[in-house]
Amino acid sequence: MIRWAMLILGIETSCDETSMSVLSTEGSLPVLWRGSASGGKGQKIKILSSVISSQIKIHAKYGGVYPALAAREHAKNIDKVLKLTLREAGLKSVSEVDLIDVTKGPGLAVALIVGITFAKTLAWKYKKPIVGINHLEGHIYSNWLPVSKKSSDLASLSNQIFPALNLIVSGGHTELVLMPDHGKYKLIGETVDDAAGEAFDKIARILGMGYPGGPFVSAEAERFSEKDGFLGLSLPRPMLSSKNFNFSFSGLKTAVLYMTRDLVNSLWPLEGIRSEIAHEAQQAIVNVLVSKTLLAAKQYKVKSVLLSGGVSANTLLRETLEKEISKIKGIKFFKPLMTYTTDNAAM
Ligand code: KG4
Ligand code: ZN
Repeated sequence: MIRWAMLILGIETSCDETSMSVLSTEGSLPVLWRGSASGGKGQKIKILSSVISSQIKIHAKYGGVYPALAAREHAKNIDKVLKLTLREAGLKSVSEVDLIDVTKGPGLAVALIVGITFAKTLAWKYKKPIVGINHLEGHIYSNWLPVSKKSSDLASLSNQIFPALNLIVSGGHTELVLMPDHGKYKLIGETVDDAAGEAFDKIARILGMGYPGGPFVSAEAERFSEKDGFLGLSLPRPMLSSKNFNFSFSGLKTAVLYMTRDLVNSLWPLEGIRSEIAHEAQQAIVNVLVSKTLLAAKQYKVKSVLLSGGVSANTLLRETLEKEISKIKGIKFFKPLMTYTTDNAAM
């Protein structure tokens, strides 16, 4: 069996984070490569550095990511991020890495192109091989990343994981992806309109809160206590009983818009109703995500459920999935590490 060790420089600019990371990997070929079912025994992965330069503050005033601005910021920061990433990894130059990886999509075209051009230039200058990485596959694989600088054994859990069901929930995607093995994917359901993260962002905007909306909505929802007296508001659970694994969140956002408008028109102060609406909206999104995931997990008889993407930081979603999956015999839920829920290059 071929043993190998290598240093990988990862570059990610798909949205509003300029991120780079150096990983050291060693083990037997080739667990992460598409189509490899076996191999990977004893494969180790270590994060030598992970730098994320976030543009959130710049986009917050627009209530969403402004693509041209994102591209400009990536171009402005990318050199600095590379320097920091190499220094944190204890490297002097890109010449010391063996491979360059870059997010090739999906994402904002004008933002992606900055990272791709930068990566190609480095690959040409230092004569290194370059690989394009699918951003969603990256999110999935964030589940295999070790905590900080410890190394993790990638393959040790494989027989408890596959076949796995991935729930990928981000600002741009909501997908249920069946994964029979490393590098093998089958899309079984997705959103027909807004993504779950997008719904959180739009609902936050309707309720007069900041961007990105997810953390604001969930913090506001936590403030809601039924004991304080409540209006008994109820929002729809879109597609909950549809016979497929697709999602739809655009109607929920519209329902929040009308509900808020009607209450404010009947002289309820926004501050007085915000936490109850946030609570009910979060409950609706989580209900639909969890119900469909459980249904798919049982139907496809998977061994595990993996959660990834920005919305995987949501506490209610994490805890509900954990609780509900623990009731099903033979299915494990791997709770994602909070370090890698947002966009990052290590994944
Ligand atoms: O994966 P990600 O960082 O970027 C994309 O690839 O889209 O996901 C960003 C999304 C945003 O819509 C944000 O509101 C959402 O993740 N998000 C959350 C939470 N933290 C981030 N949604 C719900 N609850 C959270 N705690
Ligand atoms: Zn993402």
